[in-house]
Amino acid sequence: MEKERIVVLDFGGQYNQLIARRIRDLHVYSEVLPFTTSLEVLKDPLIKGIIFTGGPSSVYEESSPHIDKAIFDLGKPILGICYGAQLIAYTLGGKVEGSKIKEYGDTDIKVDTLSPLFRGIPETNTVFMSHGDHVAKLPIGFKNTSSSLHTENCAFENQEAGIYAVQFHPEVTHSIYGQKMLAHFAYDIAKCSPSWKPENFIDEKIEEIRKQVGDSKVLCALSGGVDSAVTAAILDKAIGKNLYCVFVDHGLLRKDEAKQVSATFGKGGRFSLNFHPVDASDLFLDRLAGVIEPEEKRKIIGASFIDTFQKAFNEIPVCDFLAQGTIYPDRIESGLGISAKIKSHHNVGGLPKDMKFKGVVEPLKDLFKDEVRQVGLLLGLPESMVFRQPFPGPGLGIRIVGEVTREKVRMVQEADAILREEFAKAGIDKKASQYFAALSNMKSVGVKGDARSYDCAVVIRAVSTDDFMTAEPVDVPYSLITHIADRIVNEVDGVNRVLYDFTSKPPATIELE
Ligand code: XMP
Repeated sequence: MEKERIVVLDFGGQYNQLIARRIRDLHVYSEVLPFTTSLEVLKDPLIKGIIFTGGPSSVYEESSPHIDKAIFDLGKPILGICYGAQLIAYTLGGKVEGSKIKEYGDTDIKVDTLSPLFRGIPETNTVFMSHGDHVAKLPIGFKNTSSSLHTENCAFENQEAGIYAVQFHPEVTHSIYGQKMLAHFAYDIAKCSPSWKPENFIDEKIEEIRKQVGDSKVLCALSGGVDSAVTAAILDKAIGKNLYCVFVDHGLLRKDEAKQVSATFGKGGRFSLNFHPVDASDLFLDRLAGVIEPEEKRKIIGASFIDTFQKAFNEIPVCDFLAQGTIYPDRIESGLGISAKIKSHHNVGGLPKDMKFKGVVEPLKDLFKDEVRQVGLLLGLPESMVFRQPFPGPGLGIRIVGEVTREKVRMVQEADAILREEFAKAGIDKKASQYFAALSNMKSVGVKGDARSYDCAVVIRAVSTDDFMTAEPVDVPYSLITHIADRIVNEVDGVNRVLYDFTSKPPATIELE
């Protein structure tokens, strides 16, 4: 790869790709590599800087990921973040200890504004902390450049050696000046120029896809959502008529969605792809009957998707590859790499052994949602599709807490259609990144007319987020929530209560399961 870049060495933290993405936002190419990457590879003069990520381990444990001390002799600027900062201290002879008080969340720190990392940043500012260990003693040659109430060494550096370390996470938006700090590292310390553009990404992917699939045909699972639409659009550019798109209606889509997707991508729609719709709702819903556990539901849905594709695969010309709209947050939260597992996404984890594909094409696998949107616009997809709120692959299956039944699917579909209609009328759809109705597993007593009811409770969730890794509940006017609640209990049979979900992510997730 003939371009200057910053390498992010992965020590297993949750935000590794987010760091690379924040650097790419600065128009500097960045990629994540495993912490085991050899010094030979890292020596490349086009690698202008190296960032060590956070991670769940403690550096003083033998089993935790360590690094060859010689990395510091490569003469490359280095920035250590959280575990990466502790690793710098530990490897160079400082001391890392467990803390009595663990810092988690927004924390005020004081910084030395003479540090090249903190130039032009207010002396007191807020950052996101998430650590149990702390650096108790700095290595020789390092000086402290930041502290908080509970942590003395929030940042330290050896300017001469070009080594910088921060205990906090500059890559998350909670760190108000985090992006500025990363810009200082990329531009001033690593001396990168802002020359990389998302257009480069499209050209590189097209080339990569052509190299990977050659003249073979590719099956693309098209859901109508932005991820799979952008995947299909890139593949269309790369291989044109060798792309076959299958749309699976798993019976867990939003109201009227299957019809709309077919109208957009099918015959006479605005795209003229090889489009094959499959109604597999009975297969999915029958297999889900009686299943309560969320991970099991996801696995059943994932397996059913693959079975359905395989069936469709037999009905179209032979395709050697399967294309999927997997994006980065899907992978990180499925615990690929060495990050701790949170939940498995249906579209991750590879193909069953007996599946007759040569391989998987996942052109968006390192991108975040907003990067995918940017790429979608560049590819000429309509804004209505590009800015459509995301919808998870397992669909309403993970918005119905507990067992999925046809009756519950109907309730969520109707409640969700009311919510979307009212949000669009009030303009809240512009304010919320994702908003939906879900069905709790609670049944409760109510009165309808003169009769006692014992019915379900719908949960309304509306969140705003940049990256879907963290999210905040949206401030929806009270009068609007009560109006929606009135409509839902009046219009949706089987529902007698509506609850609004006020939780942030973390600690909650966006979906209920
Ligand atoms: P969570 O619930 O993990 O959601 O906070 C983050 C984003 O991912 C979507 N999501 C999924 N997408 N398969 C998907 O394709 C899944 O299993 C899945 N689970 C969550 C969710 O809608 C949100 O946009």
